[in-house]
Amino acid sequence: MTNDVPVFAPAMSPQEGARAATALFREVFEAEPDGVWYAPGRVNIIGEHTDYNGGLALPIALPHRAHLALRRRDDRIVRLVSPQTREKVDVMDLDTIGPKGTPGEVAHWAAYIAGVAWALERDGFENLPGFDAALVSCVPLGGGLSSSAALECSAAVAIDEVAGLGLAGTPEEPNDAGRARLVTNCVRTENEMAGAPTGGMDQSASLRCREGHALELDCRDGSVAHVPFDLAAEGLALLVIDTKAKHSLDDGQYGARRAACERAAQILGVELLADISAEELPDALERLAASATGQGTADAEELVKRTRHVVTEIDRTRKLVELLQDGRPLRGEKLAAAGELMDASHESLRVDYECTCPELDMAVEAARAAGAHGARMTGGGFGGSAIALVDGDAVHDVAAAVAGAYEREGFNPPAFLDAVPAAPAGRLV
Ligand code: GLA
Repeated sequence: MTNDVPVFAPAMSPQEGARAATALFREVFEAEPDGVWYAPGRVNIIGEHTDYNGGLALPIALPHRAHLALRRRDDRIVRLVSPQTREKVDVMDLDTIGPKGTPGEVAHWAAYIAGVAWALERDGFENLPGFDAALVSCVPLGGGLSSSAALECSAAVAIDEVAGLGLAGTPEEPNDAGRARLVTNCVRTENEMAGAPTGGMDQSASLRCREGHALELDCRDGSVAHVPFDLAAEGLALLVIDTKAKHSLDDGQYGARRAACERAAQILGVELLADISAEELPDALERLAASATGQGTADAEELVKRTRHVVTEIDRTRKLVELLQDGRPLRGEKLAAAGELMDASHESLRVDYECTCPELDMAVEAARAAGAHGARMTGGGFGGSAIALVDGDAVHDVAAAVAGAYEREGFNPPAFLDAVPAAPAGRLV
């Protein structure tokens, strides 16, 4: 084991976040913002690659947030700055911005913010005001923790308030139907303005989670339930391992998985793969294996594997939710059963969905070997982060074991986060 102390990425406190975003706003725009809004990143406990299949997911909001100091303008101009782009303010016009691949395409992270205004206008909120905004985020970028959804959702709650749309309410008294509508607009932003064909799990987590709870999200109808998830009270913790392996949702791999699921659903004659129950799975897999898709047996086998992951993952998610809600303490057999569901989820993502990578596999293996009760990749995969359910007093030992394994393998050093279920997007000051 290495003697190096593993690096934990701390969340900024709300005060620090508000102060930093306000200071940057003042420095660049030489004015006072109307307020500072924030939105959290997330980790998903289980239910991966189920959202665009109409299945279940179980994310929590992280204390790591994007903070947006914003001031409404009287025209239709949007100006954006972040510490990384301090030298060059992004300037755009709401009258001329448009989806990726069109002449109005917006570059880089600005698409996630200005794009939300674009989407809301297409949803009927016409003629929104422009704004100046300064962004300071402590959600690790590209770490698979929804750093982009955090940008969209911080813009959504800020625009909602300065334009008087009345959709968000507050984190304490949320307007859940209004937030669900904001989710739809943030997903549209991600899909069309940023060109990443993602589902809605990340944005739902950022806007609809509750502090101390996991969000049981049914992506078929958008309904949610709040599942108590106070690990610290059970003497447990959720360690996030940011593998630092490159992760991208618009490089074709994610889209290829989604397209395969759609093809499988079409062959099976269902709208979404969530329509296939665990009992119906063997029969569905036989039909897929026998399907003449015009692309040969390799394609049929791909569809079999992807479908098996999705249907079994939805089943595992349902089982974990039932376990967490049975009122018994998370110990002994129950803890072992929860860990097994997480382990099985990772195995299915590795073997059937083929969206893990050596760094993710090593993170979960090393965490388990160091005593984690269960571990799995979280988010889209192909890099990004893994999570491990560990004893509260073992967090640092497990992190050190993972860091040591990475060092021996010659991987870049990972970073770590302690995932405590935090509040959804709202206003800070
Ligand atoms: C990414 C996407 C989500 C979801 C997950 C996989 O995080 O943004 O919509 O599909 O991958 O569960």
